[in-house]
Amino acid sequence: MKYITQDIINIGVSDFEVDLFEGQYSLPNGIAYNSYVVLDEQITIFDSVDNRFSKQWLDGIEKATGGKAPDYLVIQHMEPDHSGSLHDFIKKYPSTKIVANSKTFTMIDRFFCIDCQLDTFVVSDGQTLCTGKHSFTFVFAPMVHWPEVMVSYDSYSKVLFSADAFGTFGVYEENQQFTASEWAEEASRYYIGIVGKYGAQVQALLKKASALDISVICSLHGPALRENLPDYFALYDTWSSYTAEKQGVCIVYSSAYGNTQAAAKLLYDKLSEKGCDVLIYDLARCDKARAIADVFRYDRTVFASITYNMSISPYMHSFINGLVERNFQNKKVAFIENGSWAPAAQKVMKGMLEKCKDITYLENSVTVKSALEQSSLEAIEKLVAELTQ
Ligand code: FEO
Repeated sequence: MKYITQDIINIGVSDFEVDLFEGQYSLPNGIAYNSYVVLDEQITIFDSVDNRFSKQWLDGIEKATGGKAPDYLVIQHMEPDHSGSLHDFIKKYPSTKIVANSKTFTMIDRFFCIDCQLDTFVVSDGQTLCTGKHSFTFVFAPMVHWPEVMVSYDSYSKVLFSADAFGTFGVYEENQQFTASEWAEEASRYYIGIVGKYGAQVQALLKKASALDISVICSLHGPALRENLPDYFALYDTWSSYTAEKQGVCIVYSSAYGNTQAAAKLLYDKLSEKGCDVLIYDLARCDKARAIADVFRYDRTVFASITYNMSISPYMHSFINGLVERNFQNKKVAFIENGSWAPAAQKVMKGMLEKCKDITYLENSVTVKSALEQSSLEAIEKLVAELTQ
């Protein structure tokens, strides 16, 4: 059992079995589904876990409570990674009051055919539940990450139960030491991939949270955050306001026979030589979520694609769609295109980015007509100069 405070225990589980989270995000170090027990005059549980871990979670509840039935189960988020064990919980604890908002109860009906009358406590935004020493205020956080999401603030322990917010992929060891910037590597892949579209809603939640005196953030994924909390809030403010976290260039490319790759790599080498912070991703082979996160984190992006079927590489097409649907904005952008007889990639890529706000296109771009030659080499030199000026 992992103690958050002397009477708050994380009884969540670690999942090293699932290959792709939400069917798309790789998990090289697994993922944690956190669930919390708060021991007080009345016992409260926050959220459940994926249904593959129901038994382990129910055993954890029993151990933490000493066999007492919980008085409340608070459901902050209905995505199945957190609600999947709800049905098994209700079968075991039919008298426990289910605490959630009205949107959540609608989703419970849609996800589960509950064959008994639930004892419910329907909460409104800002409503409080007192269980003895602890007093929980429920703060609605719609679209961080689903519409029913709410977070809960315990004024006694100063713990913010933050639902998906401040979560991350990966399983941390108990007492593992880490800095906010180390946490940010996977947390940015998680945040930008999953919640990146909803920056305005995250900003609204941060505004509400700024009024609270918070000692510990307990999210539904990853470690409890206890130290240097302003650093984590600053990262979330940066990501959710679509402000670049890093000054540097992210090059993303898709190549057919290596010539577009050669142009992208030459640009990478020349920028590196000049001391620029630069990353490069082959979109056919990289972790797309990693590349999306880094494109959001860096202030400049270079897109390099072949012309294919008078459009662009399908990998680049899918990648740019992934950026646009996450509200990609506020960047400097340049292009490298390749086309042996009718290069069209730049026009197509620019057209796809038309919906994005505050994109500044660099004056220089590179057109390769098959392989690198004198004019495309000169164009790369000019692009390097503009990217580093
Ligand atoms: Fe971890 Fe949106 O569920």
